[in-house]
Amino acid sequence: TKGGYEHFMLKEIHEQPGALRNTIHGRLNALDGTVELDDFPEGTFSEIEEVQFVGMGTSYHAAMYASNMLSARGVPSYAFQAGEYGLVRPPVKSNTLVVAVTQSGETADTLDAIRRAQSAGARTVAITNTVGSSVTRECDETLLIRAGPEIGVAATKTFCSQVTALSMIGERLVEDVTGGQSNSARDLVESMSRLPGHVQEVLDTSIASAVAKEYKDADSYFFIGRGVAHPVALEGALKFKEISYEHAEGFAASELKHGPLALVTPNTPVFAVFTGFDDEATLSNMKEVQARGAPVIAVTSKTDGEIAEFADHVLSIPETHPDMAGIPASVQLQLVAYHAADLLDRPIDKPRNLAKSVTVQ
Ligand code: F6R
Repeated sequence: TKGGYEHFMLKEIHEQPGALRNTIHGRLNALDGTVELDDFPEGTFSEIEEVQFVGMGTSYHAAMYASNMLSARGVPSYAFQAGEYGLVRPPVKSNTLVVAVTQSGETADTLDAIRRAQSAGARTVAITNTVGSSVTRECDETLLIRAGPEIGVAATKTFCSQVTALSMIGERLVEDVTGGQSNSARDLVESMSRLPGHVQEVLDTSIASAVAKEYKDADSYFFIGRGVAHPVALEGALKFKEISYEHAEGFAASELKHGPLALVTPNTPVFAVFTGFDDEATLSNMKEVQARGAPVIAVTSKTDGEIAEFADHVLSIPETHPDMAGIPASVQLQLVAYHAADLLDRPIDKPRNLAKSVTVQ
């Protein structure tokens, strides 16, 4: 049942603190700044030289988030839309790890990518929510995200749990592949342990419904971010378009002036996501769109600096490690999408033309 919420999606958005608690339960040692994953002990990835993440839709965004995070920490990592993997045919060696990210564990494109990776000799790991799903049977190993059942077609809690599970296995990879903990490991693990509380804070204080209301008659909605905020921006736009049926696009903030800026007008609100990584550059992108008259909604933890001063609205997130900030930021954008779709009276839990699990290619 919807437990008093009008839609499963809203219920699932609110379930995120609990889902995240389950995802991390018994898997973090915040004192030592280490992760403790039963099936992936220390050294499990010491042979690995490169990681390829594959997934579709929201799961692809989680994959991008992970590859972004790992590359920056010294592990050669790439994310592919699983449906393109067979066409791109990235070189696979015996020390390549291919990680399938899939909530349902049944997405045809993702299973196809895994089969190709395996026949090329890669080791494979599934990151999934679904015990006993096809992906768990086909991959060598599995890490369950433990987010609980998700009924709404639009993925919400499973995205945040995927990113968290990927961060944990990512920490294992960083240690095993680079031969040691990174300087910020303790901070990062500490931030992971704080995620449930941070997301609760967003749920308790968000002004997303007022923002959605103010811009409900806009022509298009744009989402920008750099680093891990790039996949967060893409995910914000995907959520928005799939349930509101309004046009929404996400871009790397750096890409803006290479084309998309032509679309920016006073009728295209821009959501700028700041995660504490190169915020100065995103701030100047924010000023560029403002100069074209676009309203800017900043998602940021910096509520008393220049970002907040220039933004038309701030959707605030708690101060945390930059690699984890994308999670509370995503929750803000889920809420904006939800309220926008609700104002338009859309069938939020079952958007037209979409299915929860896509089992054909
Ligand atoms: C978006 C959404 C889809 C799925 C995609 C992959 O809200 O739910 O984009 O993320 O179809 O599904 P899974 O994760 O089950 O492989």
